[in-house]
Amino acid sequence: MANLSPGRLLPLLTDPHKGGRSSLTCQFRCGNACAHDIPNTSENRYFGDVVAEAVSRRGVLRAGALGALVVGTGAAGVVAAAAPAAAEAGVEGHGSRGNLRFTAVAPNTEDKLTVPEGYESSVVVRWGDPVLPGAPEFDFDAQTAEAQEKQFGYNCDFVTFFPLGRDRGLLWVNHEYTDEVLMFRGYTDGTAATEEQIKIALAAHGGSVVEIDRAGRTGEWKLVTSGRRRYNRRVTATTEMRFSGPAAGHDLLKTPDDASGEKVFGMLNNCAGGTTPWGTVLTAEENFNQYFVGGNGVPAAQKPALTRYGVSTTQAIPSGNRRFDRIEERFDLAKHHNEVNRFGWIVEIDPLDPDSTPIKRTALGRFAHEAATTSLSKDGRVVAYMGDDSRFEYIYKFVSKDRFIRGHDRHNRTLLDEGTLYVAKFTGDSPKSEIDGSGKLPADGEFDGKGEWIPLVSGDKSHVEGMSAAEVLIYTRLAADKVGATKMDRPEDVERNPVNGAIYVALTNNSNRTPAQVDEANPRPANKHGHILEIVERRDDAAATTFAWALPLVCGDPKDASTYFAGFDKSKVSPISCPDNVAFDAAGNLWISTDGNALEKNDGLFVVPVSGKERGYVRQFLTVPVGAETCGPLIAPDQLSVFVAVQHPGESDDATPDAPASHWPDGGDSQPRPSVAVVWHTKGKKIGS
Ligand code: FEO
Ligand code: CA
Ligand code: CA
Ligand code: CA
Repeated sequence: MANLSPGRLLPLLTDPHKGGRSSLTCQFRCGNACAHDIPNTSENRYFGDVVAEAVSRRGVLRAGALGALVVGTGAAGVVAAAAPAAAEAGVEGHGSRGNLRFTAVAPNTEDKLTVPEGYESSVVVRWGDPVLPGAPEFDFDAQTAEAQEKQFGYNCDFVTFFPLGRDRGLLWVNHEYTDEVLMFRGYTDGTAATEEQIKIALAAHGGSVVEIDRAGRTGEWKLVTSGRRRYNRRVTATTEMRFSGPAAGHDLLKTPDDASGEKVFGMLNNCAGGTTPWGTVLTAEENFNQYFVGGNGVPAAQKPALTRYGVSTTQAIPSGNRRFDRIEERFDLAKHHNEVNRFGWIVEIDPLDPDSTPIKRTALGRFAHEAATTSLSKDGRVVAYMGDDSRFEYIYKFVSKDRFIRGHDRHNRTLLDEGTLYVAKFTGDSPKSEIDGSGKLPADGEFDGKGEWIPLVSGDKSHVEGMSAAEVLIYTRLAADKVGATKMDRPEDVERNPVNGAIYVALTNNSNRTPAQVDEANPRPANKHGHILEIVERRDDAAATTFAWALPLVCGDPKDASTYFAGFDKSKVSPISCPDNVAFDAAGNLWISTDGNALEKNDGLFVVPVSGKERGYVRQFLTVPVGAETCGPLIAPDQLSVFVAVQHPGESDDATPDAPASHWPDGGDSQPRPSVAVVWHTKGKKIGS
């Protein structure tokens, strides 16, 4: 480990950026969003069965991708719903213990992946590892765009797994963004960058499909590096894609390069994602706004929409811009006004067909998509839950018009093209005077209430006055502003619990919420540590338009009086800050990864039961190295492995290749490499048990 200065170990102390991130993270991932005005200036109040037996023509494989069954319950209450649901699902009695037995990992600032006693970890695939035939071995100081196009990309985020039998499988991994300051020696900015560096960055975005196989009979998995790897694929910022759904071909999607408005190249800033019941990947374009220049040169009428999406309309070249326009003119909005409208979508990709064209599904709306996780309604329609990860943005869901038909792949692949897109509105049930910003629970003992899903658009019928269906889909944020959606504290991952059917949302933080802006669903001002929201839809039906909600976790140091752990003994829980991605194990325990720990410790992966006596008993399962956030996470369908993406290790203030803040995963004096790791129990126990 490097001899790090205290400032580097604890970037919070010197970091002018709000929240727990390093300034590098702010610049490269979000385009310094924190330093800019809040794009949401709307008047909205601050308040605010399935399944998965899957599937199909590709049988076992597709079924495995989906994990456990989702079952409905008849129970009404948020808390009460879980136990009967578990019983109904035949999940063995975890009501009182949550089935979790490991000893929590202590918070730390070490430059390594730390796992509980009895567990081991290894690295599956690193930035630069060969993915496609002919890819050279990674050479940090001799990287080329040609090599990068065939190698594993940078900053791995969402991870999902498609079994190819018991001991072989595919990983899909998102590559969210590039951190050029850590990738290239002497890098200053996009204007001074070499053209080769910019081409490398374009190729390091996107996603990868890689084949992996099980090591012996353990929970360890390894990258397949020899023989035929017929599914391996790289998708980048230049891969040909197409639009589908109601907005495809709309004038707002047409550019000088594409008069059809149906063909687009590449995807950008793909953060989290989901899988479909027919076994494809949904990958979410998040902070796409930062990749463009020339916003000052777009027609005046178009500027308000750009501003609402965080695109600068005053500067020709926003500071820190990667200058993709130097390689591809389309990134200059002064010349290609609509190019930015072609990003910010949910992209569907078939991991089993490396020649397939990725599809941007316009029916799911356009915003800073964090993820899209699917479930089925009681009558078999496909539902996708989605967050818009920016401060004061909204939570959405899409419900398909038609039903999922098991095995009818061609039909199923049309489901995401027609349906209703909703946005969430939350109402508290306690008097406003009792939500005082201190985090103190109101007299009824919970931050909770009711809510509704407000329809924005159904197929090509708009529900928003003054906007056509296509406009609602392309300018979804503006549509949601008009219908009174609730401004939330950065909605990240949203996912349905396969055991109790409730929806869990990670609200990561929001340093900008003022005391006057607190509401029962976002009860703390300057919310540094975030919270978890639990939604129980009416009759536990994913197609319902009303719901009850509660906040089971208000995060932070348990010694901080403003925190809440569902009433569990706070002296026993792990500190948790900035929940980002969520996942479930087969018992319905909620796994939470963090990004931007504001408690001066490394990020990590946590697990918490959501039912029984241990509801709220948060335990830290692992910590990631210096400067990294924890992405993924994914519990393998057989429950024997957990995959995490270790994103941006060493991304700390002042870090450079000449003075790396991390040497993970290769150690010695190596450069840090974003990588996917796997953790398993040495005696083959199920993860966490
Ligand atoms: Fe890419 Fe919302 O984190
Ligand atoms: Ca209440
Ligand atoms: Ca995220
Ligand atoms: Ca997730």
